[in-house]
Amino acid sequence: MSPKQPIIWITGASSGIGAELARQLSPRANRVVLIARREDRLAALTDLLPNAVAVPLDLSDADQIREKIPQVITEHGAPDVLFNNAGFGDYRPVAQLTEAEHLQIMQVNYLAPAALIHHVLPHMLKNNAGHVINIASIAAKFGPWGHGPYAAAKAALIALTQSLAIEHEGINVHFSYVCPGMIKTEFFDTRGYETPHMQKQVTKHGIPVDKAVTKMVKLLDKPKLELCVPGHYRILDFIKAMSPSLAMKLVAKGSRPAK
Ligand SMILES: NC(=O)c1ccc[n+]([C@@H]2O[C@H](COP(=O)([O-])OP(=O)(O)OC[C@H]3O[C@@H](n4cnc5c(N)ncnc54)[C@H](OP(=O)(O)O)[C@@H]3O)[C@@H](O)[C@H]2O)c1
Repeated sequence: MSPKQPIIWITGASSGIGAELARQLSPRANRVVLIARREDRLAALTDLLPNAVAVPLDLSDADQIREKIPQVITEHGAPDVLFNNAGFGDYRPVAQLTEAEHLQIMQVNYLAPAALIHHVLPHMLKNNAGHVINIASIAAKFGPWGHGPYAAAKAALIALTQSLAIEHEGINVHFSYVCPGMIKTEFFDTRGYETPHMQKQVTKHGIPVDKAVTKMVKLLDKPKLELCVPGHYRILDFIKAMSPSLAMKLVAKGSRPAK
């Protein structure tokens, strides 16, 4: 388990799940380090949370990460808890994406979290204390329509988390991944998700962000490898094991845009 008053880093802290993690975790943290691009949003949070510091950083830029993260460790301390939360989807079929767009999805959703882990893990291992929580997606369990590169990146993030957990089993450094289903955030405001069909889906199936984040925060007290929010989405694992073609039909029906 992480220290009682941990230093917590949260990527993608400028909105949605990340901002709510900051709000819920600030009271129990020594410091919360908020990473994202939109400085005005980060400033609004640091005004509100006395122990929060803002670190403007574009995670789509590997050079920025390489240069800035060691400075952040020196200035604010290495994290006891790292939430790799920043990410975005793009609700379009694979054939409509350019190679550059495909690679950017992979960079922000997989390579950036992996790079952050490389920077902070030595500190956690030295202290024999730490927790890395990677926010993946239910989309990683079976690639839905319009989510090819996104699902691939999140599946890679899950596999990485599983290997890390196996490699560090039995010590006080923990690894978890979270598979959110549909959470009501700005995730669905752009990049093809703003269609009437998708908005209807979010209104119907989306769960409030504070409720979802409360479940994620519990991981700190009781670390476990996988958390699905909402929990009933785990049924997909069972269906997939029994009949991959049935799983594909169900996922296709739920994800394809209305005709
Ligand atoms: N909402 C859902 O239903 C849902 C479902 C499954 C998984 N997820 C995952 O949950 C995580 C949080 O998403 P959310 O729902 O809270 O959406 P959100 O409100 O759109 O938040 C996304 C966050 O990621 C940050 N981000 C995106 N690109 C970035 C970049 N290049 N560099 C730095 N930060 C970047 C954004 O900050 P800036 O724009 O300020 O940089 C923002 O703070 C994501 O990984 C998402 O894939 C969400």
